[in-house]
Amino acid sequence: MKKSHANQNIILTGFMGTGKTTVGRLLAETLSYQLIDTDVWITERTGRTIPQIFAQDGEAGFRALEREAAAALAQRTGLVIATGGRMMLDPHNARVLGKTGLVFCLVATPKEILSRVTEDPKGIERPLLQVPNPLQRITDLLNERRPLYERFPQIITSGKTIQQVVQEILFALE
Ligand code: S3P
Repeated sequence: MKKSHANQNIILTGFMGTGKTTVGRLLAETLSYQLIDTDVWITERTGRTIPQIFAQDGEAGFRALEREAAAALAQRTGLVIATGGRMMLDPHNARVLGKTGLVFCLVATPKEILSRVTEDPKGIERPLLQVPNPLQRITDLLNERRPLYERFPQIITSGKTIQQVVQEILFALE
């Protein structure tokens, strides 16, 4: 990693199921950084699961907690931050966290996303995908969000191992 990047945070964004947490874990291990998953941070802070927060406070309540997470994590360095799928699409969060390091956006196809969120035990924790046709919902949300994700450097994950994705990010840091 370039000296100028030393200790800067690395922020991973991208749709649900694109591998932010899995890639983030190996990336953090490789760099001796700490991994923070913002969904886990919010769950620990509030003592509630993501579905509970959505059910009790609505999506708006959850988005307010994401803003709190962005403000708190922006005070820290040496982190790999695996952000919730929409967190960095909020311009406020992108500004606050973007200042603390480099942002990468992980990309996958709707089918890959569906199979990853279905296999992932976290699948049940994604209230936005609790609909009769999750593949359609993923496609619609992706279409809606794509122009916003595309503002960040894109890292394609399709057909790549976790190690290859991490190598690609490390290469971009050099
Ligand atoms: C969301 C993504 C989830 C979680 C919440 C909403 C989204 O995080 O923050 O369910 O709107 O894309 P992951 O991307 O880690 O699944």
